[in-house]
Amino acid sequence: MSSPPSTVLVTGCSSGFGLEIARLFLARGWRVVATMRQPRSDLLPPSQRLQLLPLDVTDAGSIDRCMEAAGPIDALVNNAGIGLLAPLEGIAQASAREVFETNTLGTIAMTRAVLPQFRQRRAGVVVNVSSSVTLLPLPLLSVYTGSKAAVNAFTESLALELAPFDVRVRLVLPGRAPGTRFGENAAPRMQDSVPAAYAGFRERVFAAVRDTATPVTHAHDVAEAVWRAVTDPAAPMRLPAGADAVALAAA
Ligand SMILES: NC(=O)c1ccc[n+]([C@@H]2O[C@H](COP(=O)([O-])OP(=O)(O)OC[C@H]3O[C@@H](n4cnc5c(N)ncnc54)[C@H](OP(=O)(O)O)[C@@H]3O)[C@@H](O)[C@H]2O)c1
Repeated sequence: MSSPPSTVLVTGCSSGFGLEIARLFLARGWRVVATMRQPRSDLLPPSQRLQLLPLDVTDAGSIDRCMEAAGPIDALVNNAGIGLLAPLEGIAQASAREVFETNTLGTIAMTRAVLPQFRQRRAGVVVNVSSSVTLLPLPLLSVYTGSKAAVNAFTESLALELAPFDVRVRLVLPGRAPGTRFGENAAPRMQDSVPAAYAGFRERVFAAVRDTATPVTHAHDVAEAVWRAVTDPAAPMRLPAGADAVALAAA
């Protein structure tokens, strides 16, 4: 008798990396719990191995309901995240809080939610999607980079305390990916008023971010890196994903 497929739960599957990660694990025979704030059944191919569940990683009740409905899982991919490209003087505290609530505290809350089952089974892997901006500081990303650098530090410390239970924790560091909905989804948080003194500098940074002449990261690069982090016990703690991120990590 063949063993049942392993199960991965992925956060933020409505677009971008999360959607591609869910697609790749489905295509490779895994059971996939694809979570979205507003689940849509038209994004992923129909499959008996696919379960769509609502999940907002900033909402404790939503996390509890999702974990209950998902049942046992073997891997958690904390992918859900939001961006914010603005000078700190133009970032309202509420926007900074929203970035940390989603990127950092959402990752922490989801990780905590899976640990009891992983520890008891002495198996399981958590993959946290961070960013290559934690390797090379860039302007207008102070709050976002802070939220992801915290994820790196959190992950690397947690890995040490979970190793005795054979639970693995890994980081995937994607580079700049203009092909996802990341920029568009960040736009509402970028309406806070920015002092005029930053206008010229801000425009130059925005132009650099839109540039597609230099190497960029594609969603499938990230999905492959997550696949490796989940399935290869020898994978390093930090896996850069995308040509730009790989070059940065090697520099
Ligand atoms: N694109 C890049 O350049 C880049 C580079 C490095 C790292 N990253 C990181 O990669 C991850 C995925 O980004 P992406 O480029 O694929 O962007 P994306 O297309 O905007 O996807 C982000 C996903 O996160 C979800 N999400 C946002 N807030 C959420 C919440 N509170 N609860 C649950 N889901 C939530 C979004 O869902 P909704 O549709 O409901 O908003 C969406 O599905 C993020 O962690 C991001 O920080 C992105």
